[in-house]
Amino acid sequence: MPYEMGEYYKQVDDYDLEYQSQSEQDLPFWRELVVRYMPEHVLELACGSGRIGLELLHSPGSFILEGLDIEEGMLKAYRRKLESEPEAVQQRVLLHQGDMSQFELANKGKFDLIILPFNSICHLYEIEQQLETFRAVYEHLAPGGRFVVDTFVPDIDYLSDALNRPSTVYLEDEIEAPDGEFTMLLYTTRKYDAFEQTQHITWTHEKFFENGENERYLSRLDMHLFFPRELQMLFIATGFRVDALYGDYHWNPFGKGTRQIVIGSKPA
Ligand SMILES: C[S@@+](CC[C@H](N)C(=O)[O-])C[C@H]1O[C@@H](n2cnc3c(N)ncnc32)[C@H](O)[C@@H]1O
Repeated sequence: MPYEMGEYYKQVDDYDLEYQSQSEQDLPFWRELVVRYMPEHVLELACGSGRIGLELLHSPGSFILEGLDIEEGMLKAYRRKLESEPEAVQQRVLLHQGDMSQFELANKGKFDLIILPFNSICHLYEIEQQLETFRAVYEHLAPGGRFVVDTFVPDIDYLSDALNRPSTVYLEDEIEAPDGEFTMLLYTTRKYDAFEQTQHITWTHEKFFENGENERYLSRLDMHLFFPRELQMLFIATGFRVDALYGDYHWNPFGKGTRQIVIGSKPA
């Protein structure tokens, strides 16, 4: 069955609002990563609206930052945010619209750090698409360059509630708009296909406005779930060396947290 991303990323302003709290979790990790590696040329795959990229531009170092995303709406929001950055910061950024499984950038072979943060790898649904992505990353890295992938470890207990049937609907989050204009309740239900390792998620976004009105819309998202050995195998099968594996955003070893953060490198 062909899977697709769904329309979840079409509402860019709501995406930005819903993931503010994720920034508290993962931004310190990505900031520390660029401090440790001091790269000169970074590429963020599936860069979205710049949640991570904009933060990295204010980290130590004056690396060039390129970003690639398939959704033009996300990139438009990224470009809009960049306009309020100083000219010197804007000069360091290049954004591209494209598919991470089929990209070819002018600076191919020059990147010393390529990152694929925050579960974006889950939008690679087919094995061939996954291999093509890893091969393209390999080609774009300079010898010795690193590829860092961050996703969650599938939680069997959590998935069992959704095994081949829609799970109970539950309230995932309650978010206040910064200007106080509305409160948004975010409900989810999911169905997990264990054979394809794909989670079909439906979100209900319900906004309660200050003036008493309310508005509700649904969005869908499909995510392929990566089991740990499968993710490491993708690195190995495409020529990478697996240098490190962390279990959370505090650099604890794999197995000590809910994440799998794999750091692979292209042999020098
Ligand atoms: C979870 S968001 C992450 C965005 C950003 N990295 C962040 O952390 O906020 C996933 C992003 O992946 C993008 N995406 C999905 N499939 C893609 C593909 N095949 N190639 C490039 N980008 C893709 C979506 O448009 C979306 O912006």
